[in-house]
Amino acid sequence: MGDTTGKVSLGGKDHEYKVLSGTVGPDVVDIRKFYGDTGAFTYDPGFTSTASCASTITYIDGDEGVLLHRGYPIDQLAEQSSFMEVAYLLLNGELPSKGELDEFVHTITRHTMVHEQLATFYRGFRRDAHPMAIMCGVVGALSAFYHDSTDIDDPQQRTIASHRLIAKMPTIAAMAFKYALGQPFVFPKNELSYTGNFLRMTFSVPAEEYEVDPLIEAAMDKIFILHADHEQNASTSTVRLAGSSGANPFACIAAGIACLWGPAHGGANEAALNMLREIGTPDKIPEYIARAKNKDDPFRLMGFGHRVYKNYDPRAKVMQKTANEVLDKLGVTDPVFDVARELEQIALNDPYFVDKKLYPNVDFYSGIILSAIGFPTTMFTVLFALARTVGWVAQWNEMITDPDQKIGRPRQLYRGATKRDYVPVAKR
Ligand code: SDX
Repeated sequence: MGDTTGKVSLGGKDHEYKVLSGTVGPDVVDIRKFYGDTGAFTYDPGFTSTASCASTITYIDGDEGVLLHRGYPIDQLAEQSSFMEVAYLLLNGELPSKGELDEFVHTITRHTMVHEQLATFYRGFRRDAHPMAIMCGVVGALSAFYHDSTDIDDPQQRTIASHRLIAKMPTIAAMAFKYALGQPFVFPKNELSYTGNFLRMTFSVPAEEYEVDPLIEAAMDKIFILHADHEQNASTSTVRLAGSSGANPFACIAAGIACLWGPAHGGANEAALNMLREIGTPDKIPEYIARAKNKDDPFRLMGFGHRVYKNYDPRAKVMQKTANEVLDKLGVTDPVFDVARELEQIALNDPYFVDKKLYPNVDFYSGIILSAIGFPTTMFTVLFALARTVGWVAQWNEMITDPDQKIGRPRQLYRGATKRDYVPVAKR
């Protein structure tokens, strides 16, 4: 449907605004002139009804539980594609030919090493530092290393910065894991796949050879695909807002990492597994369901609910299937998985969760797989950040090349003191 107009009546006056239509999904009312016309701001804390940009990257239908990356359904990409191919798709808009994919993987592979000076940043942290704290610091520090790729108005430099960020996140993440263990850092090996390289840098030790398990590699790659991008979520909006000032791309991604860490967002995968372990056995589930429903109790079911999905998160479905496969093939029986499946069944039949349309989200099952692969809970959000860097970089590039975009500067509803004169301390 083409663009139409809508009328707003305020202060006894009618104001007309364009209603813009996308290729699919809700229309938007173009209110860019609203304050100039009416002298009033719109008010939307949490941006529940606000479109911050036009985008062609990812589309979510929260009611239907649909997630498309450049039009391709997430379940098809998870089952048939690879993380490197999805990265190319998110960055370039189309699936690559074999030659294009080989060239992209070749380029990314040759950016996986980090400057040796960067290793010294790790030694400033305590060994028990949370890996996400290390990621915030080290990725931000990349801003001090690559001055040849920070002119954001130069497409060539934007491309190099994008490739460097995607390529170095696995190395930085693996180094954070090794540092916590007190084990030596492991260099990337170019003959390995992106995900195989990450697993080797994470789990290999100098004392013996490490063979990448194809099952684990495939599961890890699928988990990266499921976390790659998700429209204008909190951390992506953080990256866009930071980037709108023309900030250094590495610093913008560090800002996204900081936002993702929160337990309401990417930190939920760590919180969800900790919650499932705290519940421990299915008989304890009713107690926690009651707490989640109690308004006076801040406890929420971690891994449940979503700002956009009011249906099953399609990523959670793929994640649950992958958890089954990995645990079966590894011969791992994790009682936490039984608790998760029982909790899901109980919650999905409880009127509180049904009425509020609360379903498992991407973070509900991911921790079970990551734990079975051998990651501690503190690394879960690091893996989320590793994968989401592709989405952040794609969205950052889109923001910079969008003619409608300018520095983000929201206004406010002021409820503080009105003008008053200063009173010297002797008179207070
Ligand atoms: C991610 O945005 C994205 O796309 C994020 C993400 C991505 O890929 O980038 O999908 C990744 O962050 C997934 C979400 C991970 N977070 C969690 O699992 C944490 C637990 N979930 C909640 O904190 C909550 O559901 C949010 C933060 C995810 C969504 O919160 P909203 O949209 O602001 O909804 P809300 O907090 O206003 O909740 C609506 C109602 C409230 O009850 P009322 O005030 O209406 O009576 O539902 C209740 C909430 O109390 N509710 C829950 C609940 N989530 C919401 N009650 C119990 N347990 C929960 N998990």
